[in-house]
Parts: sequence; structure tokens; C-alpha cells
Amino acid sequence: MASAGLRYEVSSEELDTISTKAIAAKESALCPYSKFRVGACLLTQSGECIIGVNIESASYPVGVCAERVAFATALTAGHRDFKAIAVSSDITPGVSPCGMCRQFMRDFTTPSFPVFRYDADGNYTLKTIGEVRLPMDIRRIV
Ligand code: THU
Repeated sequence: MASAGLRYEVSSEELDTISTKAIAAKESALCPYSKFRVGACLLTQSGECIIGVNIESASYPVGVCAERVAFATALTAGHRDFKAIAVSSDITPGVSPCGMCRQFMRDFTTPSFPVFRYDADGNYTLKTIGEVRLPMDIRRIV
């Protein structure tokens, strides 16, 4: 287990898996307007990996971020408990989730939920969802 793995109960094997999948997922990003590729991989408590990518619209706010695509896909499949998310972009340091994603992720997790942000070189920085400021301080809704 990596030190981050011990603290957040994510094993180094799980971290390897979700980082690899988040980085690979960027290939599927649909971002013709921003050209800013983002891939995410959400790890469920049951050990499943669910990916998401950013999908843009000609009407910018209609587009969705990789994090919300991953959560929506997982929630649709019935998952309710999540261990961690890896988010990958092509910048260094790794991208910080937008306010809407922070709120959305907080709605379905606890404050200790870890967000591993991977940069262009495959290195990560880590913050829990409780460490980032949220638009609203609400509790999870399911
Ligand atoms: N984006 C994400 O998918 N996740 C983030 O954490 C930050 C931003 C997307 C939204 C948009 O498609 C593009 O990146 C540029 O902001």
C-alpha cells in the first residue's frame, strides 16, 4: 500500500488501476471546443472501476465534466458507495475539479473522499473533497 493508500484505504494496486484507466480514458474525451481532455476513473467500494470523460456541447454550459460523467454512470448502475476518483488532464499540476463537480461529488461521498489529480507526466496531487471549498455545505443525498 502506498502511504496515500493507507490513509485513504486505497491500495497501491487500486491506485495503479484507476490512474491507468483515467489516463487512458482521455483518448475518448469529446472536447472539440476547449481541446482540453479530461479522463476520470471512479472506484466503487465493491472494487469496480467506472470511467468518465468530458463531453462538450456547442452551448458550453451544457457540456459535462469527466467527474460528473463517471459519477452519473456509476449511480445509474446502482452504485452508492465510492472509495476514490482519479482525474487526469494534460496540464501540470493536475486539474482541480470545477465548483459544480465539487458539489456533485460531495453530494454522493463523505468529506474524506480522495480526489487524485494526475498531471501531464502521470504524477498526482491529492485532496479530499472535504478539503476543497464547496458552493454549498450539504450532506450526501443518497
Ligand atoms: N473539465 C473536466 O472535465 N473536469 C475538470 O475537473 C475540469 C474541467 C472539462 C470541462 C471542459 O470540457 C474542459 O474540461 C475545459 O474546461
